Amino acid sequence: MKKVGLTYDLKTDYEFKENDPPDANAEFDHPSTIDVIAQAIESQGYKVKRIGNVSSLIENLDNLDVDIVFNISEGLYGRNRESQVPVLLEMKGVPFVGSDALTLSLTLDKVMAKKIFIAEKITTPKFFEIKNANSLTDIDHLKFPLIVKPRFEGSSKGLSDDSKVDNMEELKKQVEYITGAYKQPALVEQFIRGEEFTVAVIGNDPAEIMPIVQIKIDGRLKLEDKFYTFAHIASDRLEYICPARVNNELKKKISDLALRTYNAVECKDFGRIDFRVDSDGVPFVLEINPLPSLSTEDVFMLVAKEIGISYEQIIGKILNSALERHSLN
Ligand SMILES: Nc1ncnc2c1ncn2[C@@H]1O[C@H](COP(=O)(O)OP(=O)(O)O)[C@@H](O)[C@H]1O
Ligand SMILES: [Mg+2]
Repeated sequence: MKKVGLTYDLKTDYEFKENDPPDANAEFDHPSTIDVIAQAIESQGYKVKRIGNVSSLIENLDNLDVDIVFNISEGLYGRNRESQVPVLLEMKGVPFVGSDALTLSLTLDKVMAKKIFIAEKITTPKFFEIKNANSLTDIDHLKFPLIVKPRFEGSSKGLSDDSKVDNMEELKKQVEYITGAYKQPALVEQFIRGEEFTVAVIGNDPAEIMPIVQIKIDGRLKLEDKFYTFAHIASDRLEYICPARVNNELKKKISDLALRTYNAVECKDFGRIDFRVDSDGVPFVLEINPLPSLSTEDVFMLVAKEIGISYEQIIGKILNSALERHSLN
């Protein structure tokens, strides 16, 4: 029986420090998520060895004794944090599920990722980066409203109702907040009104596009000025609708863009691409997540249901893509 190592970061392992923003541990998993993933892997006929976070991995690196590692570790600090586990495994020649260090760093850094999107003609909102609110001058190449995000975070970290800004004063204040609280540059983007979608992708050469999921906020699909803030994560004001209510033309556009984005950053085994679609029906790629949540409350569970397989089977499908890629099955 093949042995699958599991690397992850637990919310409960994170110790809050002074001056940490309230969402500092947002990207880490609940112990119950790790339990269901471990059970899902076991149900597909494998033995699971729980390794834990990057520190536990370092301690055990010389006697891992696994055939492959299923990595969902987000890491603690900096824009390379998601790459720390993969780069150690790569160094030791241990195969792992999911994208490699280069892809993980490149996509966690939204500015770098957007440069790739532009080079590949993947539509993404116009943007600029700003390191210091005092150097903010005119923004004549962009029109308000804008949205201010941290340059390298996920899980809607740093996003609140104040993130959408309608004038210079609000913009400056929000840039000050992001650069101060998150100790990184701010990414300022054109705010896209309209609707929001997210698309899960599984596998390699060719990757498979899962049914499109639509984001409903406060009971509305036409989101206009509403967007996915950190406060929404734990609230019932946000719902996922699968399959999304889209016509065939938009469905095709979004699916094609999702696949091109996945391939452009060389995502492996699984990933999820976030979109906003403006009132003219033009889809914009916001970001790609090569380590999307696999929680049973999240998108992968929904798409499993929609394609008629179980949660265990969709985890098995991701694992199988990696085993195939490494010629291990
Ligand atoms: N340019 C934008 N226009 C409108 N809404 C946006 C824009 N960028 C982000 N958002 C909103 O903020 C949420 C989080 O942004 P995203 O870029 O996906 O970062 P992350 O999920 O990594 O925190 C999106 O799901 C969307 O609701
Ligand atoms: Mg997102």
